[in-house]
Order: sequence, then structure tokens, then C-alpha cells
Amino acid sequence: MKLTVKCLVAAAMMLYCATSFASGGGIRIRNLASEQNIVEISSARKYLMLPVQDNAPEGKVFIVDADACHYGPAMNIRLARERIDYYVPLDLSAFMGKSVKIDVQGVPAGSVCWKHISLSDTFEIPTGGHWRPAIHHTPPYGWMNDPNGMFFKDGEYHLYYQHNPYGSIWGNMHWGHSVSTDLIHWRHEPVAIAPDAWGTVFSGSCVVDYENTAGFGAGAVIAIYTSSKTTQWGTAQMQSIAYSTDNGRTFTKYSGNPVLTSSERDFRDPKVFWYESGKHWVMILAVGQRMQIFNSPNLKDWKHVSDFGLKQGAHGGVWECPALFELPVQGTDRKKWVLICNVNPGGPFGGSAAQYFVGTFNGKEFVNESPAVTKWLDWGKDNYATVTWHNVKDRTVALGWMSNWQYQAVLPESRFRGSNTIPRELSLYEEDGETYIAAVPVRELEEASVEVLEKDNFNVSGRDVVVDGFADKDAGAYLIDIVIRPGRAGRVEFSLMNSKDEKADFKYDVEKGLFMMDRSASGKTDFSVNFPAFTVAPAENSGELVLKILVDRASIEVFGNGGKFAMTNLVFPAEPYDRISFGGTYGNYTVKSLDVYSIR
Ligand code: FRU
Repeated sequence: MKLTVKCLVAAAMMLYCATSFASGGGIRIRNLASEQNIVEISSARKYLMLPVQDNAPEGKVFIVDADACHYGPAMNIRLARERIDYYVPLDLSAFMGKSVKIDVQGVPAGSVCWKHISLSDTFEIPTGGHWRPAIHHTPPYGWMNDPNGMFFKDGEYHLYYQHNPYGSIWGNMHWGHSVSTDLIHWRHEPVAIAPDAWGTVFSGSCVVDYENTAGFGAGAVIAIYTSSKTTQWGTAQMQSIAYSTDNGRTFTKYSGNPVLTSSERDFRDPKVFWYESGKHWVMILAVGQRMQIFNSPNLKDWKHVSDFGLKQGAHGGVWECPALFELPVQGTDRKKWVLICNVNPGGPFGGSAAQYFVGTFNGKEFVNESPAVTKWLDWGKDNYATVTWHNVKDRTVALGWMSNWQYQAVLPESRFRGSNTIPRELSLYEEDGETYIAAVPVRELEEASVEVLEKDNFNVSGRDVVVDGFADKDAGAYLIDIVIRPGRAGRVEFSLMNSKDEKADFKYDVEKGLFMMDRSASGKTDFSVNFPAFTVAPAENSGELVLKILVDRASIEVFGNGGKFAMTNLVFPAEPYDRISFGGTYGNYTVKSLDVYSIR
């Protein structure tokens, strides 16, 4: 009798220790020793909602398909320990109605997440967020960095991106996906490519294989991306492919992956295009501090044909995310090849930035025509990983990640992190014997704009001139066109301001031909010592300074003199800037025109 009671107590204790919490709704949590846990689901619904705490250490989460005795790839998730910042959905749709187990490692038994994990058939994309851009592309939730795989087909622009669907900090790289018919309004699509046995899915590109060179069907969309595999011995990178026969909605991984390997540690970000004169594919790949070029007849078999980069351009950090394409030279019928090479760190104002080279390409080798000059695509702090759209026939459209690796992880938004620049049309112009890129917003931006303010010809001298009321409290994005005639003024100064005395300051040093932006008083800046910044662009005085300034809730992009310089900087004002103040202290100048457009 005594023995039985003892046994019962022991059995009850064992049960208590092993099952610290049964959260109901078909979920049973079994907390084991050593921060190991099993989430048992008797009948899966579409999503398992996971509570996340951004500053908790990462735990490892594996879906275990009991029937196939198969472990899915590990997701590193910061499951909530003390407080819940937000929830992320783990997709269980492959197990609907069936039992499934989730193995969770590295999360203590007492963590708050265990009480709040639940099953759901829906996940509502969070809206709002004080600084969520009105017209710039952002992920629905979670983290975003580089744009990937952009292509155009059948009237649709596709944009994939480096995405962590399980938190607002980098990790678990997937390809998120959005689609647009005008490059301005974006629709979120389900995640397109997820990690597998070869690792997480790093940056890469897509091509439309019209000739069926790869054998996945004529017109199939082929994604070429880096599989990045991190183990206890370190990271290895290789190139893999996946194909889509539904215009980029869903992808099937190629069974012969990986298609290109190397013993180099940094071996990533393939940008692929069809080289018509040689009738073959070309891949340009970032390898440490150089680029490697490969050729292929079929996207599967690749041959190394050249290296580029020694003693060329900026080498302050690792080279990443290349793009290689031909551009027309304005005012001529010539074209030149351009190689975009993103570098991190080593940008002109610290952290990450995009440089480029202009020259020739013969299908195998790129030759930089002016090795002594370093050229930057943007003179702000927040334009990185810029690459181009494939298959846009009549123009070259590029897009960057509007941020900087110096502070992206601490930007003051946590429900989503990351946005893109406005898509930009690129061309080349010649000045003083050099050839440079001009970048302007795509024409679709103007097509979506409505004029809300027009002012002509006013003088600024002695006193500041304030033009106000052009944005209300709920202002989304707006575009300002300004034409300034500096005359004999040594300096032109103006600021975008709000009623909280927050301001983005702009200065034009007429003699030196320098355009500057200072965001140190622009709003919230204290989240990183690298955020307050003063950025400078060369802007020769030709009698008129022509500016196009695109302002969204958390960004300012300046395009000067027809795109001869671009300057992109994030800002976090407490309320939208709704006035512009022209400074009069440095002499007499004329604002020939000032037009403000609100963007639909
Ligand atoms: C650039 C980058 C790429 C890499 C990706 C990983 O920002 O480091 O080189 O593929 O991000 O997310």
C-alpha cells in the first residue's frame, strides 16, 4: 500500500516536471532537461503563433515530421523569456489536421513563451508603426535586407528580398516576395524560397529562361542564389538554383544543387544575365574583395572565366551584391558596361555603400576604364545592395536596401525592419572626361503624384523665408521639386522642419560645388552613435541647382541636377516635416520654383 502511494506521488512528480505547461488548444508543452523542449501538436492548424522577445537569446526550433522521421532545417528564434514583443507565425500548413512535434532547444522551462504559444488559422499582417513608409517597399513583418531576384514578366515587377520571417533581427534568411505593376504600389506574396539542407538562402538573382536552356521549360523563372551553411566549424557558401513555372510565385529547388562550390569563405550573391553576343549565361559573384565571372550554357554548369577587383575602387570591407549591365550614355548613341559593387564597410560616410565601375565587357572579362577613380552611386548613408531588374527591355531600373549595416538592427521600429529606396532609372553621363551614373526616380512616381503647392520666383536675402503647410499630420509621402538660382550667394541653406523643431538641414556650397545634408537634429537619432550624420555630394554649379526631394515617413532621397547625384538618408521625426525654411544669412539667391506633390 505504502509502495503504491509512493509510486503514485513519484509518477505525478515526473509528470509535473516533464509537462510544465499544457497550453490547451491541441498543444502540449514538454519541458525537458538542459533547456530542451518539445511542443506536441495533436491536430495542426495553419500556423503556430510564436511569442518573440527581440533581446532574448536565440533558441533553435525544428519541425519534426514524425511519419518521415525527418527534421526540418533549424530556425533561430528569440522566443520570449520575460516579455512578449510580438508574435510570428510558424507555417504548419503541410501538417494540417495531423500531429506534429516541434523540437525547441535553448529556451528555459520558465519562459513566458510556453504559456502563450497557440495555433491559429489566420495571421494578420500588422499595420501601422509610426515610421512605416507610405510608398517605399517594406516587408509585412520581420526583418529585410538586400533586394534579390528582381525580374519583370507579363506586366509584373517581382521583388524578392532577404527576409527573416521569425524576428526583426537578421537571421534565418528566406526570400520574401512582393509584386507590383508600377514599381510604386506593392502587394505582399507568400515567402518564395526557404532554407534547406544546404543552408539559408542568401542574395541572388532571377532570370527568365525563354530558350529553355536549363530544361525546366521555356519561360521558366530560374532563381540563382547562395546557399549559406553555418555549422560548428564555420560558414560555407555555394550557389544553388530553383525554378518556377508560375511566374515566380512558387519555386522548386533543383535536385542537383549546389551547382557551384568553392573553398572560398565569402562566395556569394550571384547576379546572372544572358549575354546575347556570345549566346551564353554570365554570372558575377562576390568573392571576398574581388568579383569572379563565370559562363554557362544552361545555368547548371559554370566555368570560371575571370576575376576583377585588384587595386580597383574602395576596399574598406567585403565586396557584396554585384550587378553587371550595359547603359546608354546620355546625348550619344554609345553604350558602356557598368559593374555595381556594394562594399561593407568602407562607404564614404561609414558602413555600407554602393560603388560602381564603368568600362567594357566581352562576355568574359570586365575592364574598368578609369581605375584611379572611386565612383559612388549614392552620397547618403542609406543605399546598399543596389541591384537591377532583369528583363525590363526599355530602361535599366535599380533598387537598393535603404539602410546601413551600421545600425539596421537597432532602428526604432521592431514590428518590421527594413525598407527599399524608390526604384531608380539609371543612365550614364559624361563630365570632365569621366563617365558617371545618373539616377532618377522611375517615371511611375510622377504618374502617382498630385500637385499640392506651387510657388514661383522668390528671393531669399537677409531673412529666412518659410513655406509651410504642405504636409498634414497623416502625410504619407511627398515629392518636392526645387530650382534654385544661387546668383552670387556663397551658400544656399534650407531645412525641412516640423512643429517640434526637428529638421533635416541642407546646404549648398556654391563655390566648392558641394551639396550637403545634416540629419543630426532630424528627430530620433540616439539609437546609434553612427546615425547622426553629415553627408556630402559633388554638385558642380551650372547656374541652377535642380533638386527633386522625395520625403516619406522615415526617409529623404535627394536627386540633384537630373540625377547627377543622389543622396539617401533615413530620418525618424516625431511628426512629418511640413515646412521648408530657406536661410538668408549667406547672401542673395532666388528660388525660381518650388512645387510640392503628394503621392497617391
Ligand atoms: C549583403 C549581404 C549579402 C548576403 C546577404 C545575407 O547585405 O551580406 O552579401 O548574401 O546580405 O543576408
